[in-house]
Amino acid sequence: MNKKEKTIIHIIDLLHVYKGKVETIAIPGINFSIKKGEKVVIRGKSGIGKTTLLHCIAGVLKPTAGKILVEGRNIVDFNEDQLADYRRDKVGLVYQSYNLAPFLTVKENIEFPMTIAKLPVDVIERRTNDLVEMLEIERYLHQKPSFLSGGEQQRVAIAVALANKPLVILADEPTGNLDTENSEIVYELLSQMSDLYNTTLLIVSHDHNASNYTDREIVLSRLKSLAL
Ligand SMILES: Nc1ncnc2c1ncn2[C@@H]1O[C@H](COP(=O)(O)OP(=O)(O)OP(=O)(O)O)[C@@H](O)[C@H]1O
Ligand SMILES: [Mg+2]
Repeated sequence: MNKKEKTIIHIIDLLHVYKGKVETIAIPGINFSIKKGEKVVIRGKSGIGKTTLLHCIAGVLKPTAGKILVEGRNIVDFNEDQLADYRRDKVGLVYQSYNLAPFLTVKENIEFPMTIAKLPVDVIERRTNDLVEMLEIERYLHQKPSFLSGGEQQRVAIAVALANKPLVILADEPTGNLDTENSEIVYELLSQMSDLYNTTLLIVSHDHNASNYTDREIVLSRLKSLAL
């Protein structure tokens, strides 16, 4: 079987409404599926629901209705323990703001998710070395994140997201704070890592450059979503 033939994420009639003084239909009942190892950019204007969608797939936000099948299991039905395992083992998150722990060194930041996953020390050591070599961040290993540039911090954040070899990387505007050169480095690295580990990649981005590094686009619109 072609490595990209197997569907691993299936979004079915996904609806999310934020309740409050004003009700906002953030996701209007959408359907699409993503194959293993596929690299997809998610577009749509500001406020259309891109971050909400990633949070639902990441298992950090329970949608109002619909199903999110990941490897055939509906994560919407998961209990808190199942969700915690899912987030730890299956999902890597990359944000615009890098989201590194400021009091930990680069090395400790990368090791942290693997320690939480109780991986053996030698595996943690080997994986950390592989990641820092591939992402070319050896020089900064013992520095705190605030000493690194934005582009360097984002490379560390990618290493952290990949540490537990997730099924899917969810990147929300990962280059939002970076210049064109660093943005291209980040897209290139995300794409290379996806190819190397056959990790599915969902990138939310306004930047048209992102399409040069992905297989296809999903465009969210108010008139339900259009899965291309
Ligand atoms: N916690 C919240 N409570 C209430 N409404 C929210 C909340 N988060 C988002 N929304 C609303 O839901 C809609 C979708 O928001 P979301 O952040 O998913 O959009 P987005 O496509 O990521 O936008 P952007 O491109 O600006 O990041 C917006 O109308 C927003 O105001
Ligand atoms: Mg957003």
